[in-house]
Amino acid sequence: MTVQGLGYVVIETTDKAKWHEYLTKIVGAMANGEGSDGAALYRLDERAARFRVIRGEADRFAVAGWELADAAAFQSMKSRLADAGCVMTDCDATRRGVAALACGKDPAGSDFEIFYGPDEASSPFESPAGVTGFVTGKLGMGHVVYGSLAFHDTHNFYRDTMGFGDTDLPEIEAGPPGSPKMGIAFMHAATGRHHSVAVIQMPEPPAGCVHIMVEARTRADVDAAYQRMQAADVPVSATLGQHTNDEVISFYMQTPGGFDLEFGWDGLVVDPATWVPTAHTEVSKWGHEWAWQKAAAKAAAEEANG
Ligand SMILES: [Fe+2]
Repeated sequence: MTVQGLGYVVIETTDKAKWHEYLTKIVGAMANGEGSDGAALYRLDERAARFRVIRGEADRFAVAGWELADAAAFQSMKSRLADAGCVMTDCDATRRGVAALACGKDPAGSDFEIFYGPDEASSPFESPAGVTGFVTGKLGMGHVVYGSLAFHDTHNFYRDTMGFGDTDLPEIEAGPPGSPKMGIAFMHAATGRHHSVAVIQMPEPPAGCVHIMVEARTRADVDAAYQRMQAADVPVSATLGQHTNDEVISFYMQTPGGFDLEFGWDGLVVDPATWVPTAHTEVSKWGHEWAWQKAAAKAAAEEANG
């Protein structure tokens, strides 16, 4: 297994200014000018860009950039993908500020890229919102969660072709008790972040993904981000809570892209050599009250009251 982690994400938007406000003021990412592809760049660490925001015709999550350790690992992953019948195109690496870049699509139709050798920034990272720092480094910038009805094909692709390891394979009721169960595949990359990619058995969301996650260094960073979200009237998607599987303490909020961003702290890191996949039955130990659950409960209560 050679994918190191989630190196960067590309977001397409009709309104770059909205993303600028959101990333700098709410998330606390640091603006870093423009890339050669015209993307607005945002940092979470010493890298030149973890978020690349490009102007387009839609508001959506566009691309996940998967990082390989070096040229040899990159070439070997490219061959492995080609051997598995995944059409990979050599793309202009300078466009993304990396040493080498190849582009493809997963079985769900999501665009992804593999790369190695990302550009570093020339100054220390400083969050404009006062975040003490983000947990990135060898673990990557966080995770991305996709939804797909081609669930098994997509899970198999990330595991068998891309080489991610299964971390947790729950089946969760997709609604009130008694609802049909949907599978979720949480998978880790070589460096052991509990999951760098996950796939949920559900229709592909038009926003390109279900959510992305970033991890701050302290619990106080999470509480402060929650305050910033509330003060700016950014809609909350799930209140503060702790997940059962990766033990992260986090909340979810809407992004300008129609998908959610999970802002968390203290996620589990597994040892890929010895990890035995789990199958949790509960999403959260506490908290994480979802906006859709709250709305459904309110509607049910109103109906009961006539
Ligand atoms: Fe998540």
